[in-house]
Amino acid sequence: MQPVESNPIPYRFYAAAETRAWAAAWAVGLPPGAVVALHGELGAGKTCFVQGMAEGLGIAGPVTSPTFTLLHEYGEPVRLIHMDAYRLSGPEEAEDLGFEEWLERGAILAVEWPERISPLLPSHTLHIYLELGEDVEERVLRITGGAGA
Ligand SMILES: Nc1ncnc2c1ncn2[C@@H]1O[C@H](COP(=O)(O)OP(=O)(O)OP(=O)(O)O)[C@@H](O)[C@H]1O
Ligand SMILES: [Mg+2]
Repeated sequence: MQPVESNPIPYRFYAAAETRAWAAAWAVGLPPGAVVALHGELGAGKTCFVQGMAEGLGIAGPVTSPTFTLLHEYGEPVRLIHMDAYRLSGPEEAEDLGFEEWLERGAILAVEWPERISPLLPSHTLHIYLELGEDVEERVLRITGGAGA
C-alpha cells in the first residue's frame, strides 16, 4: 500500500462543516484496508471527522458515535468500520472481539481512542491528530503514517 499522506504541517479548520468537508475529500483517496487512527481529547472532532469520511465514501445516512456499541459498520458490502476503543479495557479485549477479522474485511477502519489498542494497529496505520485551537470552533489537524512510516 502506498502512503496516502504524511504531513507534519497542521491544517486548521474553523467550523465542524470545514473539518467534515476536508475529511470527505481526503477519504476519497483511501484504499480498502486503510486504518485511520483518530487521536484527540473528548470533543476534538474525531467523530465529526469520521462523518466526513463516510460522506466522501458515498455512505448515506447518519454516522453516530459508537461509544457504547464499540463498532458501527457502513455500506453494503461494508466499506467503513467505525470503532471507538474508549470503553475497551485494552488490546486483549479488542482481540477477543475480533479485531484481526475486522482488518481482513477489506473495509476502511476508523478508530477513535486508538491509544487503547496501539499494539494491534498495523504498520500502515494513518494517524490523525486533532487538537482544539484558540477559537471555540478551531481545530488543528496533523497526519502521520502510511506505508513505511
Ligand atoms: N472545526 C471543528 N471540527 C470538528 N468539530 C467541531 C469544530 N468546531 C466545533 N466542533 C464541534 O466539536 C464537537 C466535536 O465532537 P465529536 O463527537 O466529533 O468529538 P470526538 O473527538 O469524537 O469526542 P469523543 O472522544 O467524545 O468521541 C462537535 O460538537 C462539533 O460540532
Ligand atoms: Mg467520538
